[in-house]
Amino acid sequence: MKFRFLSVILVFLFTISLRLTSFADDGYRLWQRYDLIKDAQKRQYYQENTTGLLMEGNSPTLTAARQELEMAISGLLGKPLRSSTAIASGVLVLGTPQNSPVIKSLNLASKLVPLGSEGFLILSTTVNNKKATVITANSDVGVLYGTFHFLKLLQTQQDINNLAISSAPKIKNRILNHWDNLDRTVERGYAGFSIWDWHRLPDYIDQRYLDYARANASIGINGTVLTNVNANALILTKDYLIKVKALADAFRPYGLKVYLTARFSAPIEIGKLKTADPLDPEVKTWWKNKAAEVYSYVPDFGGFLVKANSEGQPGPQNYGRNHADGANMLADAIADKGGIVMWRAFVYDNKVPDDRAKQAFTEFKPLDGSFRKNVLVQVKNGPIDFQPREPFHPLFGAMPKTPLMMEFQITQEYLGQATNLVYQAPLYKETLDADTYVKGAGSTVAKVIDGSLHHYQLTGIAGVSNIGNDRNWTGHLFGQANWYCFGRLAWDPTLSSEKIADEWLRMTFTNETAFLNPIKNLMLQSRETLVNYMTPLGLHHIMGYSHHYGPGPWIKDKQRADWTSVYYHKATAEGIGFDRTPTGSNALAQYSPAIQQKFGNPQTCPEEFLLWFHHLKWDYKVKSGRTLWGEICQRYYQGAAEVGKMRQTWQTIQAFVDAERFNHVKMLLNIQEKEARWWRDACVLYFQTFSGRPIPAGLEKPTQNLDYYVSQDPKFVPGN
Ligand code: GCU
Repeated sequence: MKFRFLSVILVFLFTISLRLTSFADDGYRLWQRYDLIKDAQKRQYYQENTTGLLMEGNSPTLTAARQELEMAISGLLGKPLRSSTAIASGVLVLGTPQNSPVIKSLNLASKLVPLGSEGFLILSTTVNNKKATVITANSDVGVLYGTFHFLKLLQTQQDINNLAISSAPKIKNRILNHWDNLDRTVERGYAGFSIWDWHRLPDYIDQRYLDYARANASIGINGTVLTNVNANALILTKDYLIKVKALADAFRPYGLKVYLTARFSAPIEIGKLKTADPLDPEVKTWWKNKAAEVYSYVPDFGGFLVKANSEGQPGPQNYGRNHADGANMLADAIADKGGIVMWRAFVYDNKVPDDRAKQAFTEFKPLDGSFRKNVLVQVKNGPIDFQPREPFHPLFGAMPKTPLMMEFQITQEYLGQATNLVYQAPLYKETLDADTYVKGAGSTVAKVIDGSLHHYQLTGIAGVSNIGNDRNWTGHLFGQANWYCFGRLAWDPTLSSEKIADEWLRMTFTNETAFLNPIKNLMLQSRETLVNYMTPLGLHHIMGYSHHYGPGPWIKDKQRADWTSVYYHKATAEGIGFDRTPTGSNALAQYSPAIQQKFGNPQTCPEEFLLWFHHLKWDYKVKSGRTLWGEICQRYYQGAAEVGKMRQTWQTIQAFVDAERFNHVKMLLNIQEKEARWWRDACVLYFQTFSGRPIPAGLEKPTQNLDYYVSQDPKFVPGN
């Protein structure tokens, strides 16, 4: 009897543990999870609207769409999606007017034409008196995008009757930039090593490559630069090009084009020429031949991304030429193949005795209008370097005759790397929605880069990838939301951060509102929280030296002044902040008069940019009525306290998340809280040595002294 009781208990425990393990999830599936919809009624409703699939084309792209639908429907609805040869009630009809006679018969031309080569249409309609859902486009890849959109409706449990959705991307080139090296290290990568396994390519096509392409297609990303901007010329040799071809072939069905970084000195390094001078006829010919070779492997190769004369990279200036000379030479080499050159404007030189924030503008503005038609100048969102907060880059308001491409950083180099939960859509939106006033009020950065303001034909947006070979792709599970939101905003910069977070959370976790509401708020607040505990009120570039991890406001006396912290915060016994008004570096003059006027006066300057543009006394009164010193302290403490709240909030949703993902985020929030307190205490103690004022009453005292924080210097930070 006793034995039987014991065995019943054992079986019970075994079943529970099985259930728990089957719930465990490592995050590999991203937002494409396709787990059974638990609500039987909803399942029934979706089943009635997906009774079969009528699709006549069989191109690789349409096949990808079919496979995705089959996998998703059988997962979400627990039934296979059968192919139909005729219209039956509830059927899905997929294809283009060219490959589907049924779709052709619907005469959708007037609706399809405006959608271009990538947009799609999803229509609830009747065909032969039978209810049907049509997913169509002008191209197969448009159909694939529409398919993913339709699946999102199911995953987020939307109504799918009476659909009349038409959607087209506002920006043409939506590209991930991988800062991946050929030895598989990733510059500023915090999610393991590179996903490109160069050693086993071209013969070994990792399933990850296909899942990567699926994920990108699901959010409309249509290009990937495989290699680091600090480039290695070897990627342009035959040994590597055959590997590049293998990746390009794997990605092609998903509409994902491959691009490479071009090392400007490649003609010397791998071509044995004496020079890389862009005006030298031999150099021009070398690049032309090299481009032809690349296209012989990858006929739809996208083009080159170039970092030149920046942080030690070679470039046209080595030969007394300018950026346009360099970009145009490469552009000419690939123009007839339809390739583009993305020429980066991230340039600054410590030998130039001027505010680093001004240098890109100074170099590029005079070149406006002198680039070839197939060149995009790729500009970082802000004038320094992906700080937690920067004003928009002044070049966005200054180059009406040159297509400018946005460069955001998805990987969190300066945003707590992969231990901090920071949802970046609000950061991206802040830049996209910023008004340049270049053609009067309403001239937003988004309208500059989507081409509508200056009528650019060529448009683009890039995100520096946060992807590595960690099982969950991005190190921090919530880093996936940043990949996701980059893609969504690249497709449509007008989407709200809130809507994107909602979609991502529903697909990645659950549709339960008791989970969605608190966690959505947590995400939406997370960036401002980070700004508070790292760089409040417009402070910037005060992180640890070189690896950029943790606080380092005391960094000084390094090989370059513009890589130190004291260069940027300029704290003295009198006050703090970088004067960029006419009494200082006058970087403000690079913005339009409306902005100069508003930002030039500390009383009207948005408080989030106060110390970016102004050097102010410690007793300066800010809007809260506190002194500047009091406000700085208040923000640091508030930021750290908010991370504590994030940790508590996560604790409340345990019931909605599998144990593995729950614990993953929980442990990282613990780390984040420690790091936020580290930033808070280190910065407050350091700035106190200048302000000479006490930490305001009511705020807890740091547990260590300043020397302790200064001595912290972690040695093997990833991504460095
Ligand atoms: C930052 C980053 C570098 C990177 C550079 C760039 O400075 O720290 O690792 O190479 O940006 O964007 O080129």
